[in-house]
Amino acid sequence: MLVLGLETSCDDTAAAIIRREPDGRCRILSNEIWTEHDDHAAFGGIVPEIAARSHVERLDRTIEKAVSNAEINFQDLDAIAATAGPGLVGGVMVGLTTGKALSLAHDKSLIAINHLEGHALSARMTEPADFPYLLLLISGGHTQLIWVSGIGEYQRLGSTIDDAAGEAFDKTAKLLGLGQPGGPRIESAATGGRADKYDFPKPLAQREGCDFSFSGLKTAVRDAAENLEEISGQDVADLAASFQFAAARHLTLQTEKAMANLSVSEGRLVVAGGVAANCAIKSMLGSLCERKNWKLFFPPPKLCTDNGAMIAWAGAERLAAGMTDDITDVLALAPRARWPLAPPPEGFEIGGGRKGPKA
Ligand code: KG4
Ligand code: ZN
Repeated sequence: MLVLGLETSCDDTAAAIIRREPDGRCRILSNEIWTEHDDHAAFGGIVPEIAARSHVERLDRTIEKAVSNAEINFQDLDAIAATAGPGLVGGVMVGLTTGKALSLAHDKSLIAINHLEGHALSARMTEPADFPYLLLLISGGHTQLIWVSGIGEYQRLGSTIDDAAGEAFDKTAKLLGLGQPGGPRIESAATGGRADKYDFPKPLAQREGCDFSFSGLKTAVRDAAENLEEISGQDVADLAASFQFAAARHLTLQTEKAMANLSVSEGRLVVAGGVAANCAIKSMLGSLCERKNWKLFFPPPKLCTDNGAMIAWAGAERLAAGMTDDITDVLALAPRARWPLAPPPEGFEIGGGRKGPKA
């Protein structure tokens, strides 16, 4: 099964070809990505209009490269999978419309993919991550704990009540003058710093449930930085290392709470999304899983951050499960800025955290 995947929901223009073998294994034949970081650098953040324009200018060439590097023709494809949301809707429209055009021109199925499902299934490209598993999805826009029972079967256990983990890394990097994208910059600054120099808070540690909160951590870093008369390179390294440690500890503690509420015979934890590329987080979650005797799966760093292969793979998984979309179904194939992967649990209010069971 050969699938082309298109990803344009944020600031990466990506296209990939993957093959799903009859035994369910994945082979990535090409995985092209054009990162727009430089286009947005002068603005200190992603500008949606610039992102959409960059996708228009670059997507065709990125697809051509993906097809030629995979040494296939469009005729060889079984389906085209394109991110249909959630994300910056201008960019999503570019990828989805291109996917529709290719699917009509070459008479191939089109599969509209939820970007979060792309991350949710990404570890299965390279790891034996069988269902069911607990997913810790940590990206620039989302931070969630989800129980994954199968393709399209997702149940949300916890969610951030303010910033996403990646957003916290990006904002902290900005205030430390490290530039963007913040996650890798913080990680590299932290290598020369002391993680125990600052004692940053443990968000929601005393609360029930496994929601997340990062805005207090970010404020604590700002306060600590403002208390210094002059910030040296060593101070930046210590602040970065202490923040990274506190973020990893928060993710680990809340994941441990979710594990405690699950009665499973064979525990499996899958960590995905851009922040999953972070080695400090990986190592702390590794210790947790060792202690709890759970298996831990991470995609390789290149497949943690946004990429076309994970969209192609989600398309292949859907196709294999007989879940295709009807190209004439305008609503199913509409670009969406918001598109929750899993409904919140009973009694959960988005933005308000868990309020307890409804009466
Ligand atoms: O999954 P992703 O590429 O895009 C979204 O779907 O949001 O995640 C991007 C986020 C950014 O916030 C980036 O700073 C963060 O992932 N990130 C990292 C690392 N690499 C990327 N955060 C911490 N450590 C990293 N090494
Ligand atoms: Zn993403």
